[in-house]
Amino acid sequence: MDVGVGVVFGVLVILLYIMTILNYVVKAINRTFGTRMKTNAKAYKAFTNCMRFIVKNHRLFGMASFVFLIIHVFIQYSDYGYISQTGAVAASVLLVQVGLGIYGSKAKKKPKSWLYIHRAVAVLLPLAIAIHVLG
Ligand code: HEM
Ligand code: HEM
Repeated sequence: MDVGVGVVFGVLVILLYIMTILNYVVKAINRTFGTRMKTNAKAYKAFTNCMRFIVKNHRLFGMASFVFLIIHVFIQYSDYGYISQTGAVAASVLLVQVGLGIYGSKAKKKPKSWLYIHRAVAVLLPLAIAIHVLG
């Protein structure tokens, strides 16, 4: 594997993506185990702090992943001289996801389906990234 600076930014996109989906994971853990976790007040406090951090910064993580993507594309394009097709597909999915996220956080009255679509695209994205990185 060629570990150039471009790759570092590609990996950063993936790490930030993981931070964004933790938004779902921490809430699901809270829904399922919240009552049981509350029996240990100290541990539950630590968990809720962590959950708050993840939820509060979700938009920031999503936007940051996109910023790192732009840097990745610039570096890879100047190093390799071509636009990776699988990369372009993954980037399009990420762009749609960030667009959906911005819409969802700005729209006053959004359709109920919005969250389901935003979640579905969150599942699609790692598949597109895997094809680009492993393909
Ligand atoms: C969500 C979008 C993307 C992610 C998460 C991502 C991530 C990565 C990662 C982790 C690598 C290193 C893989 C390895 O060295 O085996 C890589 C390689 C590469 N990426 Fe991306 N990338 C994305 C989009 C793009 C786009 C839009 C381009 C277009 C210029 C691009 C161009 C490349 C190139 C040229 C390489 C090296 C050669 C190759 O594997 O094809 N990437 N990317
Ligand atoms: C890599 C990009 C992103 C991914 C993978 C992603 C993923 C997710 C997931 C899985 C959920 C569901 C959480 C739940 O079930 O409650 C969610 C919720 C949400 N996302 Fe994103 N998201 C991304 C970017 C963004 C961006 C850029 C914004 C806004 C600027 C945004 C705004 C929201 C909002 C408002 C919610 C509703 C729940 C909440 O506020 O926590 N997302 N996102």
